Parts: sequence; structure tokens; C-alpha cells
Amino acid sequence: MIKPNKLAKNNFLSSLDLSTDEIIHILNLARNFKNKDLNIYLKNKILGLIFDKSSTRTRVSFQVAMSRLGGTTIDLNPSTSQIGRGEPIKDTARVLSRYCDVLAIRTYNQSNLEEYAKWSSKPVINALTDIEHPCQALADFMTIKEEFLDFKHVVLTYIGDGNNVANSLILCGALLGVEVRIACPIGYEPNPLIINKAREIYMNKNLLKITNNIYKAVSGANVLYTDVWSSMGEENQKEEKDKHFNGFTIDSNLVSKADKNAIILHCLPAYRSKEITNEVFESKKSRIFEQAENRMHVQQALLSCLLS
Ligand code: CP
Ligand code: NVA
Repeated sequence: MIKPNKLAKNNFLSSLDLSTDEIIHILNLARNFKNKDLNIYLKNKILGLIFDKSSTRTRVSFQVAMSRLGGTTIDLNPSTSQIGRGEPIKDTARVLSRYCDVLAIRTYNQSNLEEYAKWSSKPVINALTDIEHPCQALADFMTIKEEFLDFKHVVLTYIGDGNNVANSLILCGALLGVEVRIACPIGYEPNPLIINKAREIYMNKNLLKITNNIYKAVSGANVLYTDVWSSMGEENQKEEKDKHFNGFTIDSNLVSKADKNAIILHCLPAYRSKEITNEVFESKKSRIFEQAENRMHVQQALLSCLLS
């Protein structure tokens, strides 16, 4: 029976913190958890959740994952703790890691997350920053693997803002050798450091394509993926971004240009008639709710490795 392996790194701050083998291992464990073929007990282990931004899926899937493992979670809402009053991260991290066995943190700057990890004596997990959403990418590739069985010949096209979700898809995709195409409006391309890192991982294979032409990106693709146009923290840019992203909606015409067996993914929450039409969202091609469910299974797998 498959057992959780200890990971080489203590933290999961970026998709880059896992090796290709570790990603595959987590996806296999997650499948076993999903099929109820695996029982791991982390009795009395405690996960602290520090969320500076709203969350439905990440928060609840971590809570359920931890409770399925026999542990528990503490919701450390910054507005009702001293974090919201500006207690330094280095003090908060040193205290909370004496109480908790692992911390999952959703915040703005990646550097804040890194500061937590620097001062925490226990593993820290990225539950979304402005730069990455690596837990989401694990669930996304689990969903893709369920559909296509392996990653050979899979073309994943992401249409939207080149920020956190796109960046983690690029890095995780590079580690798994998947062709990733990003279609975004001019000025919304992914972080150049992430692009360079991914290209290094792909070595001389030209498997990462960044374009402003959605039709070029979608042609023959197996997976069409999108995310909100305005992310959390960008509420005051909504009007401007709606204008810039006009024409970047996944609609049935665009879907018809992809492979005939293509599936649709969305990390959620979704804004219908903006990044995706209701028709495509609700279509038979959508695997959006499988993808959301898989958040729980991959996080159960990740926690069991980090705490093993
Ligand atoms: N996809 C995702 O992270 O959803 P939440 O913001 O609800 O956690
Ligand atoms: N890009 C989105 C993802 C939400 C899960 C955001 O950061 O708000």
C-alpha cells in the first residue's frame, strides 16, 4: 500500500518546492484518499489557518482534510487576532508554530509568506499569495490526470490574468512536462521570473507559450482554464480590467476551436459572462466541481506528507 513520503523541503510556498516525483507521489496519494483506499491518522495534529483574504474552497477543504486525517484546525482570523493590529510576522510565527504542527497562510505578498516560513518551526503552506496558488495547481493536475490518465500530449491553455493561478500552473506544468499556453491581454503576462524558471525546467523544449491571441492558444488544446479577471485586492481596478479583458471570455465558439474532447476548468469563484459564459460553465465539458473536490484530496495528501 502506498504511504506518504517525507518531502525534501519542509515548506510548500511555491510549486517549485516539490520535485516532479513528489508531485506524482502527492497525486497518487490523493487518488487513494479519494478512492478511500488509504487511511492515515495524524491524531491530535493541528493546522493553523491564517487567511488575510476571503476563502471558501481553500479554507474548508483544509479543514475537512485535516479532520479526515484525525487532526484539527484553528482558524486564526487576522481581524480578531493581534495579526490585524500589526504584530510582527516573526513574532506571530514563532508563537503559533509552538502551538500548531503546520500553518496554511493566505496573504498578499509572497515575501510575507516567506517571512512566516523563516520564523516558523513548523511547515508553512501557501494557501494563495499574489504570486502563487500551488495547492490549486495540484488539484488542477489531479483533475487533468483523472481525465487523460497521464500528462503525455496534454495541452493546457489558460486564458486570463497571468497572476497567481497562472504562475503555479506554469511551474507545476513545467515540472510535469505538460505543454502550457497562456493567453492574456497585453500587460497581463505572467511574472518574467516564473517564465524563466519554467523555461529552465523545460530545458530546450518549447512547451511554454505566452500569447495575446486566444485563438492561437486554444487551437487543439485539451484543457481550457480560466480565473477571475480581478483578483482579491484588485477591487478598485475592476472597471479597467473588465475593459482590458474584453474578448478573453471562454464561450462556446472558443471551445469549438479546442480539441473535441477538451475539458473546462476554473479555480472558482467564477463570474459568469465575464471570464466564462454560463453555457460553458454548466456544459458537459466542465470538470469544475471535480476540480474543486480535488482540492480536499490533494491537501489531505500534502498534509500527510508534510506531517509524516
Ligand atoms: N479556488 C480557491 O482558492 O477558492 P477560494 O478562494 O474559495 O479558497
Ligand atoms: N486569482 C484569484 C484566485 C482566486 C482563487 C485571486 O487571487 O483572487
